[in-house]
Amino acid sequence: MLRLYFLISLMCLVRSDTDETCPSFTKLSFHSAVVGTGLNVKLMLYTRENPTCAQAINSTVLGNLNVTKKTIFTVHGFRPTGSPPVWMEDLVEGLLSVDDMNVIVVDWNQGATTVIYNHASRKTRKVAIVLKEFIDQMLAEGASLDDIYMIGVSLGAHVAGFVGKMYNGQLGRITGLDPAGPLFNGRPPEDRLDPGDAQFVDVIHSDIDALGYREPLGNIDFYPNGGLDQPGCPKTIFGGMQYFKCDHQRSVYLYLSSLRENCTITAYPCDSYRDYRNGKCVNCGISQTESCPLLGYYADNWKGYLRERDPPMTKAFFDTAEEKPFCVYHYFVDIITWNKNIRRGSITIKLRDKAGNTTESKINHEPTTFQKYHQVSLLARFNQDLDKVAAISLVFSTGSVIGPRYKLRILRMKLRSLAHPERPQLCRYDLVLMENVETVFQPILCPELQM
Ligand SMILES: *[C@@H]1O[C@H](CO)[C@@H](O)[C@H](O)[C@H]1NC(C)=O
Ligand SMILES: *[C@@H]1O[C@H](CO)[C@@H](O)[C@H](O)[C@H]1NC(C)=O
Ligand SMILES: *[C@@H]1O[C@H](CO)[C@@H](O)[C@H](O)[C@H]1NC(C)=O
Ligand SMILES: *[C@@H]1O[C@H](CO)[C@@H](O)[C@H](O)[C@H]1NC(C)=O
Repeated sequence: MLRLYFLISLMCLVRSDTDETCPSFTKLSFHSAVVGTGLNVKLMLYTRENPTCAQAINSTVLGNLNVTKKTIFTVHGFRPTGSPPVWMEDLVEGLLSVDDMNVIVVDWNQGATTVIYNHASRKTRKVAIVLKEFIDQMLAEGASLDDIYMIGVSLGAHVAGFVGKMYNGQLGRITGLDPAGPLFNGRPPEDRLDPGDAQFVDVIHSDIDALGYREPLGNIDFYPNGGLDQPGCPKTIFGGMQYFKCDHQRSVYLYLSSLRENCTITAYPCDSYRDYRNGKCVNCGISQTESCPLLGYYADNWKGYLRERDPPMTKAFFDTAEEKPFCVYHYFVDIITWNKNIRRGSITIKLRDKAGNTTESKINHEPTTFQKYHQVSLLARFNQDLDKVAAISLVFSTGSVIGPRYKLRILRMKLRSLAHPERPQLCRYDLVLMENVETVFQPILCPELQM
């Protein structure tokens, strides 16, 4: 009896403790999703002063919010089961690790939780109005619209767009993470996220054939792996719930990668994924010596350039690895051959550094045509970024197992890192590749000013 009493008082203690000090994201059950929920928007503030324990804030109680700092709002999407988003804590932690700012988690789980998607979708404008009221109060306290940045996931991306419209595009930035497609696809700009909704709008599309939005919605639209199917995600319904949400959620995990120092995802402005794969889009149209846009938090470094374009919209493509931290590193391999006859085939490339680390390229572009004295540029993707390449290995293959073995006579090959254009380019002259035979050599530095 005494033990039971003790247990109950302990539970009360724990409960009142967490209730008072750390409000948490609304947890609902699947039951709530079935009966539906009325809208209730809660705002939870995290700063470097309270990085793990949120403060519940509203337009009268601003807590630790310092209006002179940058403020990021994170807005989630549709919650078909009522559970909190699994990535929310990581996002808050990642953001606070890169900058000293206010991170506000917008919890509209009561409203987003319903098994009926269009019930949730219909509430997006109401959520935006609540956020507008709060931001108005911040402005009254001295905040600037320039410092306000909204990260919206799925339906949350359109919520961010609606807030931006109410400020005539003067918000600092909006990032849409796989903005919701169903019920929004094909809608006019006033009914969805649009490049005019903030000073800079960047979007990641990771599930354009199901839950995401297909067409560009921002100043820059990133299409990882073409935007359709993400590597490492289940391809069939036997993958369970992951089959439905893995591609969609990947946009969030890619953004999270950008908050960690060891993973830089570079993207390549291009008209189509196919052109990107075939290596047609790798100098970014900017200048050969500048790097291409980065995905995620630092995408706004390209804001000036991207907004000057007419129209101010750019599509960018890139491939990723199957799992965290997702980065792949792009190199360009320029090859000039001098075979008398045209050769068609593909090349596999391996790099090794001084420490003995090796990495092999995954080139799955179409077979290349090598023509005498014409430079061919192949895009090679590696899972590791070796800083000092000590050896390169090349294998040429025409794909045929019968018939004569061909040789590919290389006049010059050049390897250049796209993520780090400042790194010295590596060259090798006069090589003969025997078909299907690995040729390993030490590269030398290319002469400067080589055209
Ligand atoms: C704001 O929050 C405080 C404390 O949590 C609460 O007392 C107050 O009623 C709230 N104000 C509004 C307008 O919701
Ligand atoms: C708010 O942030 C600024 C710097 O951005 C700082 O100088 C100031 O002391 C902060 N105010 C409070 C109350 O912490
Ligand atoms: C990258 O850094 C994160 C922590 O910031 C760490 O958890 C992860 O293992 C690192 N990944 C690699 C490949 O080094
Ligand atoms: C290369 O190998 C060394 C030693 O084996 C290891 O410490 C280092 O992390 C590796 N570098 C990369 C980029 O994998």
